[in-house]
Formats: sequence, structure tokens, C-alpha cells
Amino acid sequence: MSIARSGSAIRSIIRRARIVVATASAWLLMFVHVASAGQSNSLMDISSDGKLLACSNRDSGTVSVVDLETQQKLREVRVGKHPEGVSFLGESHNLAVAIYDEDTVVFLDADTGTRLGETDVFDEPYGVVSNSDGTRVFVTLDYPGQVVEIDTESYKSLRQFSEGQFLRGIAIANDNLTLYSTEFYSGRVRRIAIDSGKTIDQWSGPSSDNLSRQITLHPQRPKAYLPHIRSRITAARGAGSIFPYVTVVDTRAGEGKRRRRIPMDSFNNRSVTANPWETAVSPDGSTLYIVFSGTDDLIIANVIDDDYRELTFRAFANLGHNPRAVRVAPDGKRFYIYNALDFEVVVYDVTTRRPLARIAVTENPLGDEVLQGKRLFYSALQPMVGRRWISCSSCHPDGQPDGRTWHNPEGLRNTQSFAGMAWTHPIHWSADRDEVQDFEHTIRGQLMQGRGLLKGKLNPPLGTSNRGLSKSLDALAAYSNTHEFTLSPYAKNGLSEAAQRGRKLFLSTQTGCAKCHSGPFLTDSLPNGEIVRHDVGTAVDDPDEKLGPTFDTPTMLGLYRTAPYLHHGKAQTLEEALTTYNHDDKHGSTSQLSKPQVADLVEFLKSLPYEDPVPKAKAAGLTKITN
Ligand code: HEC
Ligand code: HEC
Repeated sequence: MSIARSGSAIRSIIRRARIVVATASAWLLMFVHVASAGQSNSLMDISSDGKLLACSNRDSGTVSVVDLETQQKLREVRVGKHPEGVSFLGESHNLAVAIYDEDTVVFLDADTGTRLGETDVFDEPYGVVSNSDGTRVFVTLDYPGQVVEIDTESYKSLRQFSEGQFLRGIAIANDNLTLYSTEFYSGRVRRIAIDSGKTIDQWSGPSSDNLSRQITLHPQRPKAYLPHIRSRITAARGAGSIFPYVTVVDTRAGEGKRRRRIPMDSFNNRSVTANPWETAVSPDGSTLYIVFSGTDDLIIANVIDDDYRELTFRAFANLGHNPRAVRVAPDGKRFYIYNALDFEVVVYDVTTRRPLARIAVTENPLGDEVLQGKRLFYSALQPMVGRRWISCSSCHPDGQPDGRTWHNPEGLRNTQSFAGMAWTHPIHWSADRDEVQDFEHTIRGQLMQGRGLLKGKLNPPLGTSNRGLSKSLDALAAYSNTHEFTLSPYAKNGLSEAAQRGRKLFLSTQTGCAKCHSGPFLTDSLPNGEIVRHDVGTAVDDPDEKLGPTFDTPTMLGLYRTAPYLHHGKAQTLEEALTTYNHDDKHGSTSQLSKPQVADLVEFLKSLPYEDPVPKAKAAGLTKITN
């Protein structure tokens, strides 16, 4: 974003030039490549005049505005639960912010803090970019994977383009004709024509490419950069499972090397980096900045104009806790880092790379214990991890799944969501752990090879508790248990008729679903000290299963966004979980159901939760785990 508005003069020349040669389309195409500047999604943005910086404070539910001349926070505005992408509109001081958990895009005047308007979207708005005159914003919806176009005068949503799944990254070319989006769980990049809303080109990586949440365009060259990891599901061990990358996409259709993955773990020849989160290119196009949220560091790379090496190492710097954003000032003299778990923005001089100021943008809203636990959860350093490639968050980003089924020693294991986990312990598909403190076994094991958080004796995962033995281990548990259920977007207007018919089937003795999927969380897995497992016939699908055939009953709340299904992740859809993978009606009785009945049942499951389950749980005397 910062890079984008480097010259309104240049743009007006482009506009004039376009009028003169509008018919010479081949020339125009070439010119656009030369002139296009990236405007990319970020948690932080700088106004085109370089005067204001805005950042989303995800944990506080606020946006902060900083005066870049005085380097003071001007204001902090409450916007809603879990704000993500933020963008200035064109050359103005107005802002658009995506509120992930509230399904709205909020518009603010950064000079006054006034809320100007709000647009409802279907679900999970993530990345935001604005066109150059600020009349439109384009927002990715993580779920269900769409781009929404919003008019910034009426705050009306004009169009939705249904392109891909779990869209996060978004960038707009300076021609204002083209968008680039990334898929979170595959790193697939699409070029979308804004006028038709259609994908006109796409670049896919290998199936291990994962957690791609941002894309940056080079200001002059036909290149796009996306930070992401690679999840190697067949190697659940410390040195071989997760790798950091920046992928460079050649945006010229059909020319040259189209997609090149540059490993970041060996890039600086000194130390391994983990979990690249965002990138930014300097306005002159010479420099790429990459922040690593696992190893808390920064790589500064030279952008090479050779279509081959693409990037070479220039410098390295240690940052604060969990850096999640980097932006460069429009004049190229400063760069800014957002250290999410220090709640601060740090101003750096581009030449000396020294910090010039630290600006507190919000207060710690988490409390000391949860903050400590969250820092540990995101850390790829000791005492959590021996060899720096991996952190808990590499597979559980913000408590969400990584969309992968890992080949664990005990068999195939689909990564679960942490939503509502505090109410549905014991944990793991096999209920082989009954508290998050048991993950000290993971920290010390093959996967992470860390020193660990507990001095002294570690108890086995079940039986004698590991709670209360280590403050930091309890803090890790306290953070892990903070993730709440969010309501299903399919039931915003209540249950549809199909979902109501499905609900009757689900509760009927005919199907028997509610025998196990019971109570406010639709599971009989509760933190009451009892371990309940059932054989629902699913172990036969994985010949390498070592802990089956019985499994913990998972909650049904939030299923709409957590495909694939079952412990082995083989059911791609809910329908498949209830039909193809329900062998001999061992998993409830479904073989007697007609196709429309199965569809009704699926409609019901997709609508969960349609109300907040917590009041009912409290009324029923249930309690949640707090650490
Ligand atoms: C390589 C990926 C990976 C890493 C790294 C990882 N996990 Fe997991 N996690 C998984 C998978 C896969 C499962 C499902 C395993 C199972 O159920 O047996 C899981 C399950 C869990 C669950 C249970 C969720 C539930 O609802 O039952 C918790 C809690 C958890 N992990 C915490 C952690 C913590 C804490 C760390 C860091 C110490 C961590 N994980 C590191 C992949 C990972
Ligand atoms: C005997 C207890 C029991 C009954 C009855 C039962 N389930 Fe399950 N359900 C489970 C268990 C245990 C699992 C986990 C199995 C696995 O992962 O292999 C599960 C998993 C699921 C999943 C996958 C969840 C996920 O996160 O991947 C769905 C969907 C589901 N059940 C729906 C139903 C429906 C619909 C019915 C009725 C037709 C039903 N279940 C009947 C115990 C039961």
C-alpha cells in the first residue's frame, strides 16, 4: 500500500497517455507492467501523503492511528472482534478495516476517529485493498473464499466474485483493472479481471504450500511475492516438516519461469527463520522486506532484475514478539514493523536499519498469563523448539486448523480447530490427552525438540495431571483455551427449512446421531474427568492406525469451515463423512436416508452453531477449562 501512491503525477501522466493511445492495446499492456505498483493487504497501512499510519490490533478489537511526523499515537478506535486487513482509501485519510469475527467492513475517518459506515459481508473478511481514487475497496472473505467489491460512498457491497477457497491475500495493480488473490491453504495465486470478476490466469504451487495470507506486487517489474510455509505432512519431525518460503510469481502470462519458491530457512546463511507473515517492497523496487513471526526476525533482500535469482540476501534484524506486518514509507526513508505481541509499532531508518522510535499502539488486552502463553505458542525459539523451523502456530494459526492431515506415528491425524476446546476436553481425536499441559510431550518430542517448559518430572498424558507444575506451561494452556466458537454464517437468519428438517433427523432415534453428539456442544466429550470413546467404524480407512478403533466424539459446532472430516481427513465433504465413510451404519444410521434427507442433515450441520452455546452450557452446570 505504501508503495502504491508514490506519485500522483506519474498516474496523471498515465491517464493522459492512456487517452492518447487507448487503441494501442499491446503497448498499453506493456506500459501497465512498467507502471504498475502494488497495493497489498496488510494489518498496517500508511496514507499516501506519508502522514498517518494505521494498524489493526487483533487482540484489542481496535484500530490505532499514528501521526508519523510526531511519531505519536493519535487515537485508538474500537472496531469489533478480530480486525485484520486495514487500508487507506486512495489518497484520503479514510480507512477500511475488515472485522473477521463480526463479518463487517468498517469505514473510519482516521483524522477524527469517526465511524463513517459499515458493510455486512457473508463471513470472515480478511484482506482489504483500495483502488487508487479510493472509490472502491476489494475484500477477501477467508470463508467461503470470495472477493467482495464495496462502493466507498454508499458502503454498499456491489459484487461478490466466487473465486477459490479460503482467500486471504489480495493486491490491486496500479492499472486498477486487475486483482491478485491468494488461497490460504494452497498458496494458489489468481489474477482476476475487475470488470468481469473472472479469473484470467492462475499460478498453483505444490500441494505442500500452505498458510499464504498476503501478496505484494513489485512497483515496476511483473512480479508478485507471497510469504508462506510448506507443510510436509509425511514428516512429523523437527527438521523436516515445516519450511518458510517466499514465492515469486511471474505475472506475465505464459512467459518465463512462472512461479519460483525461494527457501528462507537457509537464505541468510546464519540462522533458520520461521513463519513468514508479510512482505513489503520499497517504492523504488530495489528491496524486499520479509517478517518472520515464529523466529521474531526480519530479512531484507535485494530484488534482482534477472528472472532467475530474484532475491539475494542483504541484511537481517531481530524484531520484537510476533511481528505480523511491515510497511515502507512512500518516500522510502523509513520502514515500520508491527510487533503484534508487544502491541507496538517500531520505526526504522532504511539506511542504518536502526530503530528510531517505538510507538505503543494498544495496551495488552490479554492479561499477563494469556500473553505469556500466546508468545510461547507463536515462538519457534527455545524453550519451545530446538531447531527453529516450527512453532505450535505453524499448524494452529490463530487456533485455526492448517488444513492438513498429518501422518503421525499413531496414524493419520487431521488438524483440529481450537474453537470451543475449553468446553470439550479431553483433546486429540483419540482423547489421548486431557489437558494442554500434556503438549510438553510434543515440545520435548521429535516434532519440536525443545528444552520444554517444565523442570522436573513430566507425567504421562493421561492420569496424574501436569497442571500447576510450571507457570509457562499453564500459560500455554490458558492461551490455547481462549478460542471461542463463532456463529455459522449459514444461520444468520435462523435455521433454513432444510436445516430444520435436518435437525429433526439428527435428533431422531432413526439416525441416533444425538446419542454421542449430545448436549450444548453436540459431543459427549466434556472436561469432567471421564474419557469416553466410540468405535464408529472409521479406523478401517487407515491401515496404519495404531490407537483406534475408538475415537473421541468431536463437537459439531463450526463444521461448516473445517473440511476435510474425520480423524483421517479422508471425507472431503460432510456428505462423504455420512455416506462413503459410514461403513455398515456403524456411525449413526444413514443408509436408509434418501439423498434429499442426507442433504437436509448436511444443511443442519453447516448451520452450527446457530446460537451461542455457552449460556446453555452454563445453565446446565458445565464449566470450561481456563488453563
Ligand atoms: C506439525 C503440526 C503441528 C504442530 C507443530 C503442533 N500441532 Fe497440535 N495438532 C496437530 C494435529 C495434526 C492435531 C490432531 C492430532 C490428534 O488429534 O491426535 C493437533 C491437535 C492439537 C490439539 C487438540 C485440539 C482438540 O480440539 O482436540 C491441541 C490442544 C494442540 N494440538 C496443541 C498444540 C500445541 C500447544 C502445540 C505446540 C506445543 C502444537 N499443537 C503443535 C498438529 C500440530
Ligand atoms: C456412537 C457415537 C456416535 C454416533 C451415534 C454418531 N457419531 Fe458422529 N462421530 C463420533 C465419533 C467418535 C467421531 C470421530 C470419528 C473419527 O474421526 O474417526 C464422529 C465424527 C463425526 C463427524 C466428523 C467431525 C469432524 O470434525 O470431522 C461428523 C460430521 C459426525 N460425526 C456426524 C454424525 C452424524 C450426522 C451422526 C448421525 C447420523 C453421527 N455423527 C452419529 C461419534 C458418533
